[in-house]
Amino acid sequence: MKETVTLISGGAGRIGSAFCRSIVENDGKVVIGDISEERGMALQDELGSKNAYFVSLDTTDSNSIVESIKLAKSKYGKIDSAVHSAYPISKGWGAKFEDIRPENLKEDLFAQLGGAILFSQQIIDFFKSQGYGSLVHISSIQGVYSPKFEHYSGTNMVSPIEYAAIKSGIISITKYLSKYCGRDNIRINSISPGGIEDNQPRSFVSKYNESCNTKGMLDAKDLCGTLLFLLSEDSTFIHGQNIIVDDGWGL
Ligand SMILES: NC(=O)c1ccc[n+]([C@@H]2O[C@H](COP(=O)([O-])OP(=O)(O)OC[C@H]3O[C@@H](n4cnc5c(N)ncnc54)[C@H](O)[C@@H]3O)[C@@H](O)[C@H]2O)c1
Repeated sequence: MKETVTLISGGAGRIGSAFCRSIVENDGKVVIGDISEERGMALQDELGSKNAYFVSLDTTDSNSIVESIKLAKSKYGKIDSAVHSAYPISKGWGAKFEDIRPENLKEDLFAQLGGAILFSQQIIDFFKSQGYGSLVHISSIQGVYSPKFEHYSGTNMVSPIEYAAIKSGIISITKYLSKYCGRDNIRINSISPGGIEDNQPRSFVSKYNESCNTKGMLDAKDLCGTLLFLLSEDSTFIHGQNIIVDDGWGL
């Protein structure tokens, strides 16, 4: 990642911050784009302001995306790659299928799917003017497979139907845009992670882990090798692909 600059939306989040740390550990520079100034600035301080630069970014607002790209370019002179890892959720997020409310649905579909399209639109416009670029979207196993509902029984966790729709939509956006601008020297791919361990109920974790081959629920760090590969020249001819990193959960 030496001499490279990567803009990460949701860069202060669980997965985004692991990506930022990994890129900096591998001698790259990151622009941490996030709505949380507090966590974004803390990560910038941790990684050092030479290697990491926090910008206030709201991926549901085109002006904010354009401004973040401008700030990133003026700080580092270029943006080689971008990762869309922002995860905006409404107050009603996580409702059961029977309880979904139209207003939450509109907000979440727009913020997550619309935001992915708006972020892609602006970063692709920038990559076109620069003459190259690589974009990685973050989908999920929930966008590829149907949920294992039996893992949720006895907990109050929900695997939302709109999450499945959004995440399969992210894979469609990846393929569409990869073809749409592949001739412009722009590569677009996605990663579909399995579940990241985050204090989920023990019964859920143990059932989930039984579906996997070795580790079970992952740590955000476990995704970083795949991200670095997709951002590097080692994947130059990989276009429009979705790489599942789930320890075999979906098999
Ligand atoms: N955590 C998991 O188990 C898991 C598994 C598979 C896929 N994913 C996907 O990975 C991505 C990142 O998830 P995460 O676990 O890191 O979530 P997270 O909530 O830890 O981080 C998301 C980040 O996005 C930021 N954000 C929210 N709204 C924003 C907006 N409008 N503009 C910019 N930033 C915004 C938040 O402040 C936060 O820092 C999501 O697309 C999620 O669906 C997560």
